[in-house]
Amino acid sequence: MPEDSCNPSPERVTALRRALLRWYRENRRDLPWRADSSSGSFSGFNPYHTLVSEAMLQQTQVATVIPYFHRFIAAFPTVEDLSAAEEQRVLRLWQGLGYYRRARNLHAAARMIVERFDGQLPSAVEELLKLPGVGRYTAGAIASIAFNRRAPIVDGNVARVLSRWFAIEEPVDEPRTRERLWKLAEHLVPPRSPGDFNQGMMELGAMVCAPKSPACLVCPVSSHCDAHRRGIQDRLPAMLPKRKPKPVTHAVLAIEKRGRYLFEQRPADGLWSNMWQLPTREGESVASLPQWAADTLGLCIGLPERVSGFTHQTTHRTIRFTVHHASVASGRKRRGAWHRLDAVDDLPLPKPQLEALKIVREHRSA
Ligand code: ADE
Repeated sequence: MPEDSCNPSPERVTALRRALLRWYRENRRDLPWRADSSSGSFSGFNPYHTLVSEAMLQQTQVATVIPYFHRFIAAFPTVEDLSAAEEQRVLRLWQGLGYYRRARNLHAAARMIVERFDGQLPSAVEELLKLPGVGRYTAGAIASIAFNRRAPIVDGNVARVLSRWFAIEEPVDEPRTRERLWKLAEHLVPPRSPGDFNQGMMELGAMVCAPKSPACLVCPVSSHCDAHRRGIQDRLPAMLPKRKPKPVTHAVLAIEKRGRYLFEQRPADGLWSNMWQLPTREGESVASLPQWAADTLGLCIGLPERVSGFTHQTTHRTIRFTVHHASVASGRKRRGAWHRLDAVDDLPLPKPQLEALKIVREHRSA
């Protein structure tokens, strides 16, 4: 069969595998979820650690994940411990990592592993895909890294590396191109050391084949890279045009009553579900905050003072937060709980609420 970018020649496959594996074994970072396999033989990763780390690493950088991983494993050393934990505690340990659905899914996955899989993570991709929050990427990562199964993976790093190795000029976020990348990854992943190979691709993407200014001069596979040969590595990967995030406004209302503040739990679905917050009005009108407090919280408040503001970026929205302070004049709260500002460590709070809290604290002590 002639070589094309869906079917690289066997010689090229062998050369890529060899160069990548050698480089990875010499250069891999010592990360807490990576068991020592420096002897070259497969020494077995802890599958539960792999599951937790892969959940944390979705959309999040390695350096950010490391301290969270240590705290999480210290709190829940086994999958049984996690399955028995209260959701609020799991969310509290995830606080600051964002994308909290990952934490809820991980928690649900632990329960399923205990109830349906007898406490053992399954090793086959088809079984792993049954776990909540485990998609094709995570299933492939766990199967290859923790169980030495020959399973491919494609994440953002791998998509970039492959698009350059094979000079794929179609947008990598287009479903047809994505499918092609999965086929390539499947073709390339070796029967021996699939986990090292997959981690090597991610590691190369993170450390050498970077999105901007890839370090081709020190790249172990540049002599097998089509983009490098053609000098087009800076143009790849191509991406579909991004939709502009929608600008929205959220008004945070810090309501004080005798040194305590009202906190409420967010609804069970949508953004930051089940987490806690200072009452927050999502929408335009700041002038109507007192009416809103009366209608929804049952509290009559004095005129709110605008304290400060900041911007928070989510995937689809640019949220302008404004922070307001008010005191209760009368009424009984209809929902939520009163807390002192220095006694909310157990409440899982989304990042912008932590920022709002900091602003309120500084305002009070000023
Ligand atoms: N990103 C996601 N999973 C990873 C892993 N196992 N090693 C390095 N980077 C990663």
